[in-house]
Amino acid sequence: MGSLEVPNPSLWVETTERAPHGTASLPQVVDVAVIGAGITGLTAAYLLAAEGARVAVVEAGEVCSGVTAFTTAKVAALQRTTLSDIRSRLGHERAQAYAEANVAAVDQVASFVERLDIDCDFERAPACTYTASEDEVSSVEEEHDAASAAGLQTRLDADTELPFGVRAAVWLDNQAQLHPRRYCLGLARAFVDAGGELATRTRALDIDEDADGVSIRTDRGDIRADHTVIATLLPFVDAGAFFARAHPYRSYAMAVRVEGARPSGMYISAESPTRSVRSTGDGWVIVGGEGHKVGQDDDTRRRYEALEDWARAQFGAEEIGYLWSAQDYETIDGMPYVGRLTSGRERSWVATGFRKWGMSNGTAAAHILTDLIAGRDNPWAEAFDSTRLAPGASLKSLVSENANVGKRFVTDWLKTWRPRPAESLGNDEAGIVDLDGDTVAAYRDDSGELHSVSGICTHLGCRVTFNTAERSWDCPCHGSRFDVDGHVLQGPATKDLSEK
Ligand SMILES: Cc1cc2nc3c(=O)[nH]c(=O)nc-3n(C[C@H](O)[C@H](O)[C@H](O)COP(=O)(O)OP(=O)(O)OC[C@H]3O[C@@H](n4cnc5c(N)ncnc54)[C@H](O)[C@@H]3O)c2cc1C
Ligand code: FES
Repeated sequence: MGSLEVPNPSLWVETTERAPHGTASLPQVVDVAVIGAGITGLTAAYLLAAEGARVAVVEAGEVCSGVTAFTTAKVAALQRTTLSDIRSRLGHERAQAYAEANVAAVDQVASFVERLDIDCDFERAPACTYTASEDEVSSVEEEHDAASAAGLQTRLDADTELPFGVRAAVWLDNQAQLHPRRYCLGLARAFVDAGGELATRTRALDIDEDADGVSIRTDRGDIRADHTVIATLLPFVDAGAFFARAHPYRSYAMAVRVEGARPSGMYISAESPTRSVRSTGDGWVIVGGEGHKVGQDDDTRRRYEALEDWARAQFGAEEIGYLWSAQDYETIDGMPYVGRLTSGRERSWVATGFRKWGMSNGTAAAHILTDLIAGRDNPWAEAFDSTRLAPGASLKSLVSENANVGKRFVTDWLKTWRPRPAESLGNDEAGIVDLDGDTVAAYRDDSGELHSVSGICTHLGCRVTFNTAERSWDCPCHGSRFDVDGHVLQGPATKDLSEK
């Protein structure tokens, strides 16, 4: 599950304590069990505990060890070309609800930082979507149009601090950036101070909802709750078929020291490959981009090289301090899913599909779910409704189609694949190999030791592929990730790959 012990830890991971903040014993009965201690789960848990609910957070790794620890941590309602995209796919009203929820979330984060006295390098900064390409000028203008129509005070101005020519740029002032782990550790402390219980290193394996409550089965025992909030980036349970309705994308970031002045704004390009830029108070410039579908790049090390080349060419980057990568999910229509696990359930709640904008969307989702659990109306709940399906689609068919894809994929692969001999793997090399007549996924580490595991994902049976930069086995179907010894790094899988 979320892990801080990875080959490429982020700037945020390397500059914070690892203290787990966990309770030794697992609470047995609570009002709400929140699963996942990233920004979404911790915000929901704190809001609920502050209202007087008895809340437990169940986290498979440490507090803030998932994507929130590997983000670029811009907290902004202007998010590349998201608003024009949502408007064109779902209409003005949905775009407006999205904008309002995100504006409120930016304010919510600012107010927590102040009220809970969280020391997290919080800074106000303008957000900017720019383009250096004539072809994307109209996308920037459309974003300005959609954002203004949704009530944001955006402005067009191609004058930026970027060290290259910009053809058009849209700005939203007074947004924010912060140190995401320090922020989340601050939220976790406030949650515990409000009476919350935090069970780290506890993996939720299944949930079972009945008329009176929900039972959460974990690898350390069961918890009974009136409600559960699944805030695990993508729900780990198959109900709701979120794995089939949202797709995982990986992205890369790097903290560099530059020759000249550091930009004070938070920038992102409208064109692809995406380039994201922001600075930190302690002298780093963070550049990001190079997104691609999980498991669909045969040498991810090239992604870091491309970013580094760009940072050196554009900013005269002198020192590369930290580099890291992570993934987030994008829903089929671009709008996050926030609400019920399935339309029949009254007590199981989810939030997912933030499309790499979960610092504000995760905060907004926590607010929406807190209202729904408390039985209050929320002005944005309908727009984010998690049970919406494409016309004609059914949950049952989505689940079985996906299960069949995995099985077909593996059957075809086993028939046609000719594994290479395990002995042919060099040090720091991975491949699908023949080991004593068995076809396995194997990695030979720097010391020459072979780590061999099953190459079949434990979620729905797709074949995993090796991620060379992060030295992990990644599943191209729904984004589960495993370390070289088969341990789950990231769901929806909850079972490790078997050792071979
Ligand atoms: C490279 C990159 C850059 C980004 N930059 C930005 C940005 O600048 N601004 C922005 O708004 N967004 C950004 N995002 C997106 C944002 O970081 C995420 O959307 C957000 O952090 C998601 O938070 P979360 O709490 O939902 O998930 P996570 O932080 O992943 O938390 C989920 C937690 O659930 C735990 N978990 C998982 N399964 C289980 C289980 N079965 N049992 C118990 N616990 C479990 C995990 O260990 C993890 O700690 C970026 C994303 C990427 C990939
Ligand atoms: S089959 Fe679903 S994540 Fe691998």
